[in-house]
Amino acid sequence: MAQTHFGFETVDEDQKAHRVRGVFDSVAARYDLMNDLLSGGLHRAWKAYAVAVAGVQPGMQVLDIAGGTGDLARAFARQVGRHGRVVLTDINEAMLRVGRDRLLDEGLVLPTVVCDAERLPFADGAVGAGGGAAATGFDLVSVAFGLRNMTHKEAALREMARVLRPGGRLLVLEFSQPPAALRKPYDWYSFKVMPLLGRWVAGDADSYRYLAESIRMHPDAAALKTMMKSAGFGHVDVHRLAGGIVALHVGIRC
Ligand SMILES: C[S@@+](CC[C@H](N)C(=O)[O-])C[C@H]1O[C@@H](n2cnc3c(N)ncnc32)[C@H](O)[C@@H]1O
Repeated sequence: MAQTHFGFETVDEDQKAHRVRGVFDSVAARYDLMNDLLSGGLHRAWKAYAVAVAGVQPGMQVLDIAGGTGDLARAFARQVGRHGRVVLTDINEAMLRVGRDRLLDEGLVLPTVVCDAERLPFADGAVGAGGGAAATGFDLVSVAFGLRNMTHKEAALREMARVLRPGGRLLVLEFSQPPAALRKPYDWYSFKVMPLLGRWVAGDADSYRYLAESIRMHPDAAALKTMMKSAGFGHVDVHRLAGGIVALHVGIRC
């Protein structure tokens, strides 16, 4: 059996999704509060930046992958209007349930699908038949803070390319590797403060230790760009945020 990492632990590949599921089952109810606490509210600014870069227009078809409690899907839903569509998806039912309920409270009813990003239940994007008919597939796919939790990131990226229409864009918002100057304070915060806050607020230090470790194991911005290019994105732009702690990769499906 091939092996992979779950944070700093080495695990059999077929164990990772199960362990990740345990993390998000455990934190779902307190996920939004913890996001605000741990990032000092900054995650809202990073997401707002991604939404601004996405430039979603009325009528667009948008797929939010690993959408969790629905921050991006909510923003996109307000932009696509009545003739567009935003599909909120995640592998974890508990996270999606919190997201769906929150959106319903705000009067937003979105198609919500439990699915694995590595096997998306959507048709291939394609140019219109004979070049005349409209292209099919999503105009935009987004994945925020989800990719690093996936077992086969390359497979997930290929799936994201597959369901986009040619010329459609993928936005990957994810933690990245900070510059050397920030590493010491960032490590102290990640490995000392985050698990403590996790224990006090969510009753779960381990999940927040996993969060810190999974960030260290995630490819840096240059490596992720290379992975996206190999997965079918002809052009990839990288926007570094918060001194490189977070990166937004924008890929265009060729
Ligand atoms: C840190 S949360 C991010 C949620 C939301 N996108 C946000 O930015 O607040 C990561 C999400 O990735 C989801 N996830 C992990 N592995 C996945 C997979 N293989 N397919 C789809 N979603 C996955 C988890 O269930 C979790 O909801």
